[in-house]
Amino acid sequence: MKILITGGAGFIGSHVVRLFVEKYSSYHMFNLDALTYAGNLENLKDIENNPNYTFIKGDITNETFINELFNKHKFDSIIHLAAESHVDRSIKDPLAFVKTNVIGTMILLNAFKNTWKDNFENKLVYHISTDEVYGSLGQTGLFTETTPYDPNSPYSASKASSDHFVRAYGETYGMPYVITNCSNNYGQNQFPEKLIPLFVNNIINNKPLPVYGDGNYTRDWLYVKDHAVAIDLVFHEGKNNETYNIGGFNEWKNIDLVKLLCQQMDEKLNREKGSSEKLIIYVKDRPGHDLRYAIDASKINKELGWKPSVTFEEGLNKTIDWYLNNKAWLHNVTSGAYQLYYQKQYSN
Ligand code: NAD
Ligand code: TYD
Repeated sequence: MKILITGGAGFIGSHVVRLFVEKYSSYHMFNLDALTYAGNLENLKDIENNPNYTFIKGDITNETFINELFNKHKFDSIIHLAAESHVDRSIKDPLAFVKTNVIGTMILLNAFKNTWKDNFENKLVYHISTDEVYGSLGQTGLFTETTPYDPNSPYSASKASSDHFVRAYGETYGMPYVITNCSNNYGQNQFPEKLIPLFVNNIINNKPLPVYGDGNYTRDWLYVKDHAVAIDLVFHEGKNNETYNIGGFNEWKNIDLVKLLCQQMDEKLNREKGSSEKLIIYVKDRPGHDLRYAIDASKINKELGWKPSVTFEEGLNKTIDWYLNNKAWLHNVTSGAYQLYYQKQYSN
């Protein structure tokens, strides 16, 4: 079976690629990635020479290239992760998110449809999506698979749009698909623009920790390797044309999470207790900031038997250790363009 994974050089994608390459020697995994600022082949150094793995540098918005690629390889399945993924960047440059997340997804869907025409037997498009498509919760309640879409940021609007197109291709053309909507991931190889790796890096460098608004925003956090295991399960055992919510059963207010992170960092860096917390500063809020995300993951739990394998404290501990042991990785991704991004995003 030939599987096309898009965005496999990114944070979540690299964990999915590794899991599939190591676990399924009878599959050939093609990792298609444009290597934007978020894509990094260092993430996959350990498996790059495996015989069932091929990396292809390319952009999903390039229709001619994508059509030629499908003509050549006739992929049986797609696991689609390639996306612009950061909410703050989507506020500054929404069109980039429409291009990759909506148009790029459409180009892939068309190429897949045109390859298999009306015979989709044993074929699958798996769209990796986010819980942010459901909008914001108040202080109570959980997102279920039937929660109406109500996206607030350009990022979540673009992901909602691509989810709709995947479903529409299922209904209209009979294209088999699954969609999963997952909560906030954390773990090794995450680009230091997202909350946890950004703050780990800033603590290492004694830089301020910019908490948006009052810090009372809530997210559900899932260890990235547990997400990859869920993706493997849904790919193989999920029902076609269904969606599954994936979450960590693990809600944290940002400020509480940041304080826990500070405590763990103080211990690991042998710094005086409380010294990292002193770096916290409250900064201007993110426009349209969603108050709370929380997932009801009972469907995937009951139907497929999935649940997270690590506690948040364990996962965070492993994550911090990885960043401390991989300072060269951090250094490489925070040189150059990152500095410009950081200045623009945090200059106020
Ligand atoms: P990421 O930003 O770390 O990686 C995205 C990858 O896509 C990068 O390797 C990048 O080079 C590639 N890419 C971007 N534009 C491309 C294009 N036009 N053509 C080809 N490749 C392109 O993202 P991530 O955090 O790993 O997220 C992966 C997927 O999971 C995304 O679809 C995201 O919406 C979804 N998701 C992320 C989270 C999270 O917490 N990070 C949670 C739920 C769902
Ligand atoms: P982020 O990691 O960007 O994920 P998302 O916006 O997709 O949930 O942000 C997680 C939470 O942390 C979110 O409520 C915004 C907040 N946040 C800050 O307070 N400061 C920051 O510098 C960043 C990047 C995020």
